[in-house]
Amino acid sequence: MEKREQLYEGKAKKVFATDDKNAVIVSYKDDATAFDGAKKGTIVGKGVVNNKMSNFLMQILEKQGVKTHFIEELSDRETVVKKVEIVPLEVIIRNISAGSFARNYGVEEGIVFAEPTIEFSYKNDDLHDPLINSYHAVALKLATKEEIEQIKAMAFKVNAVLKDYFLGLGVKLVDFKLEFGRTADGEIVLADEISPDTCRFWDKDTNEKLDKDRFRRDMGGVEDAYKEMMKRVFGE
Ligand code: TMP
Repeated sequence: MEKREQLYEGKAKKVFATDDKNAVIVSYKDDATAFDGAKKGTIVGKGVVNNKMSNFLMQILEKQGVKTHFIEELSDRETVVKKVEIVPLEVIIRNISAGSFARNYGVEEGIVFAEPTIEFSYKNDDLHDPLINSYHAVALKLATKEEIEQIKAMAFKVNAVLKDYFLGLGVKLVDFKLEFGRTADGEIVLADEISPDTCRFWDKDTNEKLDKDRFRRDMGGVEDAYKEMMKRVFGE
């Protein structure tokens, strides 16, 4: 696999072309942003944690029948993935109240839901990623009705698999954000990443936050939280 020109640089990753028109290389950075890029910083070692954890979780999900973009891990920070057209929706699943849910509805964090919830945000920085319902997403041609049904089913499946997996590591999967893409053949696959940047992880016994909220909320111990999640997953 030959790495070619940079195609794109996002807030946390760079994407490079390869000699295969259907594959790209993703390179994970230590850069961290929050609140639409208004808050900027560095989380030392984050790129390595997110790359390795995301790849490992995607392989677990593949075994459980969830199609993902993952092809091959190249190094600590670089992975070959299927080239996809990203569906411009952030798909958020919640098991426990936290973050914008708690804020929007005026409830405390930590309420355990009887059933997981799902919501979509329109991925659009200029508009600050507004909440969007599935009818509006179809009206805007962000995805077809069928694609949205498929995305919902895949997102709940991801939750079922990962919630159990993390509980086994002594971690509550509070909520998380997924992104999906269309491959060249028009297949919907799980894309982007699953990491402490995109999930809320709380220790099962102490509710200690082990994710990017420590950065968003200036809580300190950010690198240690990423390291701790790495240790839980890989036992390092
Ligand atoms: P929220 O409570 O702020 O809406 O976040 C819900 C989940 O989505 C949480 O696990 C963090 C994740 N998330 C992202 O991955 N990217 C984002 O831009 C935002 C706002 C949240």
